[in-house]
Amino acid sequence: MAHIKAAITGVGAYVPEYILTNAELSTMVDTTDEWIMTRIGIRERHIIKEENEGSSFVGEKAVRQLLEKTNTDPSEVDLVICATVTPDMQFPATANVISDKVGIKNAFSFDLNAGCSGFLFALETASKFVESGKYKKVVVVGAEKMSSIVDYTDRATCCIFGDGAGAVMLEPTEDEFGIIDSKLQTDGVGRVHLHQVAGGSQKPASHETVDARQHFIYQEGQPVFKWAVSKMADVSVEMMENNNIAPENLTWLVPHQANLRIIEAVARRMGIKKEQVMINIEKYGNTTAATLPLCLHDWEPQLKKGDNIILTTFGAGFTWGAMYLKWGYDPR
Ligand code: UT7
Repeated sequence: MAHIKAAITGVGAYVPEYILTNAELSTMVDTTDEWIMTRIGIRERHIIKEENEGSSFVGEKAVRQLLEKTNTDPSEVDLVICATVTPDMQFPATANVISDKVGIKNAFSFDLNAGCSGFLFALETASKFVESGKYKKVVVVGAEKMSSIVDYTDRATCCIFGDGAGAVMLEPTEDEFGIIDSKLQTDGVGRVHLHQVAGGSQKPASHETVDARQHFIYQEGQPVFKWAVSKMADVSVEMMENNNIAPENLTWLVPHQANLRIIEAVARRMGIKKEQVMINIEKYGNTTAATLPLCLHDWEPQLKKGDNIILTTFGAGFTWGAMYLKWGYDPR
């Protein structure tokens, strides 16, 4: 029997309506559109303003669109994995909430946290379930309400992050398309540079933690920047070498959208042109686990069967990785 591979068979996405512009941010902290555009490359980001809504608000909409676009009845879905660092609640899993909201009742579902690499780690995990032959329709969704953990008095982080969600369907295939190779890695020494100090079991919420603003993102930008460039570039080059992909034969690089300068440096080290790179950081900012599926969603109309695509991410942990896949369908 031919080896079963996992292929992406559809993409859905959703970003909230409210747009936070650099102009508005400039009224909140000491910053300028010029600084944000030249240092990070973000013009605007979407923010969930709806009351009492968490990441499942955007995740639900992305998955709903995915089910519609792929003509999937919710009862057919076998598994839902939600990548997020901003779950609706500590428990139950946001994947459980999203499944309930969209009417997925015959699946099991769980969350996965790998910082900004969450979607890639979830895609890898999901692909193994599909390759086992037991699971036929697996939904991977990256959903974030980063605005719930952003300190809007800290100019070094508040310009970066946005809210949003993206989802893909993974299904088995025996042809040459689908996920072909991957390499994922973690190094916990990086945790000191990027984390949320309080709110976990080590330092539960208290008046003191709230007063000390410890429930927000803590990031030391420069070490994270350096690691991100070298790790994403190294692992992406490794994917190219292991699979004999010359730079001109790579159709698309889909990089995590954290900083335009990081993306450009990674592309340079891979020897590819900017035209081969999916970049939408300008309109969404860094949506953490949602950046990759938001790219795939925006580019889906121009993706063709057989396109050589490398996905790459870097995030808190540190976590990083790359995945090589051949796109499985022409524009519908
Ligand atoms: O997605 C997870 C992974 N995360 C990343 O990949 C993020 C990686 N890091 C970065 O993207 C960049 O390091 C940042 C965008 C976070 C910061 O950019 P930078 O070029 O590394 O700036 P910096 O932290 O070295 O700060 C340079 C200066 C400082 O001023 P002084 O000390 O030189 O006077 C900052 O206070 O820029 C200042 N600054 C700002 N100025 C205007 C920092 N943020 C701002 C701002 N507006 N928003």
